[in-house]
Amino acid sequence: MENILNPSILSANFANLESDFLELERNNIKKIHIDVMDGNFVPNITFGPGQIGCLRKISKFYFDCHLMVNEPIRLIDSFVNSGVDCLTVHVEACTHIHRTIEYIKSKNIDCGVALNPGTSIKDTENVLDIVDKILVMTVNPGFGGQKFIHSMVSKIEDLNELLYKKNIKNKIIQVDGGINIDTIDKVYNIGVRDIVVGSYIFEGESIEISIKNLINKIR
Ligand code: DX5
Ligand code: ZN
Repeated sequence: MENILNPSILSANFANLESDFLELERNNIKKIHIDVMDGNFVPNITFGPGQIGCLRKISKFYFDCHLMVNEPIRLIDSFVNSGVDCLTVHVEACTHIHRTIEYIKSKNIDCGVALNPGTSIKDTENVLDIVDKILVMTVNPGFGGQKFIHSMVSKIEDLNELLYKKNIKNKIIQVDGGINIDTIDKVYNIGVRDIVVGSYIFEGESIEISIKNLINKIR
């Protein structure tokens, strides 16, 4: 169950990430979600490969890196060298989405395609067979602590159906944004097994209590 949760460190304590990492480890978390923002594709700025490289040295977590940057193909080499395990790029941010994904795959790491709430799943249709993961944003990207957009539930159902119709198997569907004790079951119940959670985990009473609450809700 803990494997389903993917804590977004966007809401963690930037002044002491190591202590938050240790607390996540004590609660059996195996992966973390790292939100990279460029102040251009989204109106916020966060981490770069330098910081991620430092975090890599202190942690064995699976690093799931969500690139909210324009034309990420320019930056793939530096992020791969920083030690990430997965790079997810936005379909809206890539002039050549197929080329970008093929380039990430050539680096032998996992690869995902993300889509904003306003983007149709049709825009990802031609890369579904080559990605490992499809990230359905359930808020508009840029900030933690936003409200879950409920109409994304039917979008995820449509995506499930599209994958089934195309006979595309073994893809991870990930959701990101607005997940908390009131919304986690909405996505779990339609088969989502990679659930990013930021503010609910890091800004509650304690990391341990928040993780337990979430797991109990879907158990
Ligand atoms: C938003 C980021 C999310 C964010 C989720 O652009 O991609 O990963 O940290 O945070 P919460 O769970 O607070 O919505
Ligand atoms: Zn994210």
